Amino acid sequence: MCGIVGYVGNRDACPILLKGLHRLEYRGYDSAGVAMVNGDGALNVYKCKGKVDDLEHFLDGKDLCGSIGIAHTRWATHGVPNDANAHPHYSESENIALIHNGIIENFRVLKDALIENGYTFRSSTDSEVLVNLIEYIRTTENCTLLEAVQQALKQVVGAYAIAVIEKGNHDEIIAARQSSPMVVGIGKGEYFLSSDATSIIEYTENFVYVNDGEVAVINRNAPLKVFTLDNEEERIHIQKLKLSISQLEKGGFPHFMLKEIYEQPHTLVDCIRGRINPETGEVKLSGVIDNREKFVNAKRIIFVACGTSWHASLIGEHLIENICRIPVEVEYASEFRYRNPIIRPDDIVIAVSQSGETADTLAAVELARKAGAFVYGICNVVGSSIARATDSGSYIHVGPEIGVASTKAFTGQVTVMAMLALAIGHEKGTVNKEYYQEISQALLKLPETLEDVLKIDAQVEDLAKIFTYAHNFIYLGRGYNYPTALEGALKLKEISYIHAEGYPAAEMKHGPIALIDAEMPVVSIATPDHTYEKSASNIEEVKSRGGKIIAVVAREDEQVRKRADYVIEVPVITDCLMPIVVSIPLQLLAYYIAVNKGRNVDQPRNLAKSVTVE
Ligand code: M6R
Repeated sequence: MCGIVGYVGNRDACPILLKGLHRLEYRGYDSAGVAMVNGDGALNVYKCKGKVDDLEHFLDGKDLCGSIGIAHTRWATHGVPNDANAHPHYSESENIALIHNGIIENFRVLKDALIENGYTFRSSTDSEVLVNLIEYIRTTENCTLLEAVQQALKQVVGAYAIAVIEKGNHDEIIAARQSSPMVVGIGKGEYFLSSDATSIIEYTENFVYVNDGEVAVINRNAPLKVFTLDNEEERIHIQKLKLSISQLEKGGFPHFMLKEIYEQPHTLVDCIRGRINPETGEVKLSGVIDNREKFVNAKRIIFVACGTSWHASLIGEHLIENICRIPVEVEYASEFRYRNPIIRPDDIVIAVSQSGETADTLAAVELARKAGAFVYGICNVVGSSIARATDSGSYIHVGPEIGVASTKAFTGQVTVMAMLALAIGHEKGTVNKEYYQEISQALLKLPETLEDVLKIDAQVEDLAKIFTYAHNFIYLGRGYNYPTALEGALKLKEISYIHAEGYPAAEMKHGPIALIDAEMPVVSIATPDHTYEKSASNIEEVKSRGGKIIAVVAREDEQVRKRADYVIEVPVITDCLMPIVVSIPLQLLAYYIAVNKGRNVDQPRNLAKSVTVE
């Protein structure tokens, strides 16, 4: 959470910082601020509660001169969102300014020690403690800013990506990272710093990812240098990253979420490209080819993930158990990492994460690696922390997902999992030719299938009008579509703030059926598969208690539509890929209800796109 951005070069820093903040706003948006050193060496900090737009208004008439600066958009962890808790934070003397993404876990002890040394605090943040600690070391030890940062960070327990600038120094930003993302963009005579390379992609294609425990010295007059906290100089690896700016804009859509829903036919083309031979239907994933023995001999696969990625993993469980006959477990990364789990060397741990930065998933990866398991990543963001921390993996290649509600990443994850299951199943000989071909052909046709599904948009928009003022929703599904029900409910609750529950349909009668009355909309997924008849009976149970049924059915369905109050028709493909098809109208339903309620769809309250705190 929180986005940090920095610039040092020959241009005006402020417009670059603000543009970067807008691009990073998905990471947090409760307050924002900038700090710049102007031509006279003055260090100016401007910050306020609210979004980056509010900051821009606040900056009217201020001294915005300077070609060096740092900026921050916040997702509160310590201290409520207000002006004082916004970043950057000044040190006591106002000689140093700092931005921070992460959590300083031992801030209380450090703060008490600083108070004993006469320091006072303007905010309730852990970050202000760090800037004062840096200043304290700098003044008492009479050392350089780099040395003060290194020494301060040795005392810190927690996660951080920080950037620091100092009064009187036009040339240098000191930045450091531990468990929070940070990348330096290298231009000609200028440097850019960010939590996410996409926010600065228009300025450069050359990036250096700062690693855990490293401190970067970003000086406009010198090559980039990276040191450990013990001042050992590290080798720098410059990586190329190409991205089109249009992928970061709304492209005529009112919200990123709607744009991303509509992108899905194309993103799945990118996801599948080069992995399925269109002539033969053969699936090739380099991650499986390179690690064939590990996959073939795996005794167990454990998925670790959070949120939507966890829902996709539940579908991965069905796919792999069904196609590869390998036992699978799906774990919330946050629970897994603290449960002292049994991990064996012949286990494969698959970490699933759109951002590749989710703190709990990253910690689960580290735990699994320490235990000797082979760790595979399914990530979207190229070069992200999880992608780099895993032994191998498959990117989903769906392009930047900006809307906080995950949409195209979910369908990309399920698509990669289906290809993964086919590739492993083929190597193990556990999948017959017909089923293999049925799935791979359906994968190849997914883009056109999703174009077809999207034709339902206007109908879902109308349906959303009927249910905009519902207070609760239940989503039911079975088999492959039980996770789809969970995902549909999550989409609705996170952007509309309507309480919604996803359930395996048969589980209703074990308790939740007590909630059913005429006020309760129940979205029932009943597309054709071996659970269809059972799902139809579950719908009957709800219907006979007065619940309002919105049934997601096949176009040719005859049975369920008779019992439903409203019907959402979808085309049918092979059962294991139906979650991809069904999730589209559920994404649209959540979207239109949220729009009708006037919610901030792309930046729902209390949420952030990338959860880099545990
Ligand atoms: O980036 P990740 O896939 O690791 O993120 C995991 C969750 O935070 C994320 O899926 C979250 O649940 C989304 N907001 C759901 O739409």
